[in-house]
Amino acid sequence: MASSEDIQTLILTTLDTQGAIENTDSLKAANGTPIPYLAVVGVLNSLASKEMVAYTTIEKDQFNLTAEGNEIADSGSHEAKVFNAVDAVNGIAIAELAKLLGASAKIGQGKAFKNKWIKKDGDKLVREVQSIVDQTQLDALEVRKSGTHSSAATLKELQARKHVEKVKLISYSVTKGPKFSLTIEKQATDLTAEMLADGSWKTQTFKKYNFAGNPPEGGHLHPLMKVREEFRKIFFELGFEEMPTNKYVESSFWNFDALFQPQQHPARDAHDTFFLEDPATATNFPDMEYVNRVKEVHSHGGYGSIGYGYDWKIEEAQKLLLRTHTTSVSSNMLYRLSQETKANGGVFKPAKFFSIDRVYRNETVDATHLAEFHQVEGVIADKNLTLGDLIGFMEIFFKKMGVPNIKFKPAFNPYTEPSMEIFSWHPGLEKWVELGNSGMFRPEMLETMGLDPDVRVIAWGLGLERPTMIKYGLDNIRELLGHKVDLDMIQSNPACRLDKKMGKELVGKDAIVE
Ligand code: PHE
Repeated sequence: MASSEDIQTLILTTLDTQGAIENTDSLKAANGTPIPYLAVVGVLNSLASKEMVAYTTIEKDQFNLTAEGNEIADSGSHEAKVFNAVDAVNGIAIAELAKLLGASAKIGQGKAFKNKWIKKDGDKLVREVQSIVDQTQLDALEVRKSGTHSSAATLKELQARKHVEKVKLISYSVTKGPKFSLTIEKQATDLTAEMLADGSWKTQTFKKYNFAGNPPEGGHLHPLMKVREEFRKIFFELGFEEMPTNKYVESSFWNFDALFQPQQHPARDAHDTFFLEDPATATNFPDMEYVNRVKEVHSHGGYGSIGYGYDWKIEEAQKLLLRTHTTSVSSNMLYRLSQETKANGGVFKPAKFFSIDRVYRNETVDATHLAEFHQVEGVIADKNLTLGDLIGFMEIFFKKMGVPNIKFKPAFNPYTEPSMEIFSWHPGLEKWVELGNSGMFRPEMLETMGLDPDVRVIAWGLGLERPTMIKYGLDNIRELLGHKVDLDMIQSNPACRLDKKMGKELVGKDAIVE
């Protein structure tokens, strides 16, 4: 068989001498044999990608004899064999014919009777005519010679009798391409720094990109983002508005001071908080009147509070940090709400906000803790809300999450009073496990912002990682985030349903991710 290089040379020289190749069927290897079309198309594709040739495909039906058809073309039809076996004078005994012709005897007899070539005479067969024309053999020979038959009806019958089968012949019509040449230039696949440096890129030819391959796979939501979508759905169903959480770097002011968290609070300590080194301080502060009210309430109190009684320093509030909770965003939004109320002539509009985003804590990393994680946070601001509203709302919210029985335990946050931790009963562990934290924002925080004393704000927060790990059956946080994550785990996991049990969901003791 001709090598692809031989075929390439053959195609290029033929094009060079004849201008075009009408049908690659006419191409023959040096030894005169035809060239298989698969070998031709391989070479054509490679030449076409270099724009050296252009080609179109020619499809043609051809009829070939089957093994039985070839046998008929060579030695006659079954019926002719039968006729020839019948002696012109004495005929032949039926039993004798079967012995002589085997399978042909049975098939041939019927046809020979029908053609009125022979007849029965007792237990013998005798001739009815003295000579015959074996049309079946002639038909087979015609097909063998021309690849088809002049009579469409005969062709159909030959196919039905399985003497002939149809095959598709593929060949090509080829013309010269814009870059036709007898020699093949090596094309570069990449533009290199060297080519740019020595200027050779100007004359170098480049291999074209092939965009016809497999289309790239679509993206997949990370499990954390799948669970996030479920939480977002719950919030949207309940009429909440999403807060802008795109500020990972925040000032201590919004993360701590606006939340009435004292400047010497241990949580601000560099052990828990990542402070920025460069730039180290924030410059864009809200109006100084508000900042001064914050200073006043921390130092000396106000709005019914005695304050912390320490010397509040703006330098401390200016320190930039990676936000330690999304409550920094909530404090910012509540301040905006007070500004809007003012702009609205003092008419307060109730608000429901939520956010789900990343926060950072300078903590020891272990199987269930990283120095960064996601918080789900909800805030409701309305006049005269009570602790009963918070409890009632938490029951609705956690029921939607698929957690029907919750309990509350008093807790402490510098910015909420009262504060409550939220627990749910874990049937596998037979104990109450903590789900989240909640509370009513302090008047020291809200009134300082300029909100009316009767505007109350209830808020709560919970982690996103724990429900995600439980839902997707992961017991090590490193399977969820970081370089050990299995991409297949991300691609093949289903969407999350918070209100339904999922396939690999962790149950019993495994579900405790604290
Ligand atoms: N900020 C709290 C935390 O980081 C959660 C919380 C939000 C608590 C709102 C009360 C009110 O855990």
